[in-house]
Amino acid sequence: MTEQTKIVDIYIMGKHYQVPEGLTIMTALEYCGYRLVRGCGCRAGFCGACATVYNLKDDPQLKFDLACQKTVEQDMYLAQIPFFPAAKATYDIEKLEPTGEQVLAVYPLIEKCFGCNTCTKACPQELEVMWYMSDILRGDIPEVMNKSFDCVMCGLCAARCPQGLVPYNYALLSRRLYGKYLAPRSKHLEDRIAEINANKFDADIEKLKKMDKKEIQKKYQTRDIEAAY
Ligand code: FES
Repeated sequence: MTEQTKIVDIYIMGKHYQVPEGLTIMTALEYCGYRLVRGCGCRAGFCGACATVYNLKDDPQLKFDLACQKTVEQDMYLAQIPFFPAAKATYDIEKLEPTGEQVLAVYPLIEKCFGCNTCTKACPQELEVMWYMSDILRGDIPEVMNKSFDCVMCGLCAARCPQGLVPYNYALLSRRLYGKYLAPRSKHLEDRIAEINANKFDADIEKLKKMDKKEIQKKYQTRDIEAAY
């Protein structure tokens, strides 16, 4: 740390700490000595493990973010919510149809949504959560997929819903239905799966398994990269 580094005051679960400005909440937690065995995963904004709530000394409005993405601010009062209780249905995707009725049959509580939009305000990914809930009710599964595509399942929408709904699970089912029944099929993928099933790559995989780390790195760095279209 240089002499010029600005120090900010933060409060982790009520306890006061001073940390260098610019740290993410996650690195600030570690800087303060917390060992993260929950509430930490990819560290890159993808896995949703690090849901965090906070407010600021002069702004009591509760705010929501991912600890690995949000940087600390002066007088930030924060706590992590690494898990929030949320009922997840068990279903056999093979026996479902890609319709709103089907999602409602699996999750009938969706009808309790009264459109308060608290879920949307809680989403650290800024997804239109309430609007994909209404897309489910309208039976527009592709639109649920579009609106919820960047969901990282952090659980903050469920934590804030006054009706106890779990929007991210409803969106997950909708995306699965979309992927299974509505998404255009990929001929390339089907061909590749057939090749894998015909053991076309077995010899190459065996060769890879025998390489040491350096050889694999070199092979990876000099691989053919398909042009992006
Ligand atoms: S650790 Fe994965 S989203 Fe933050």
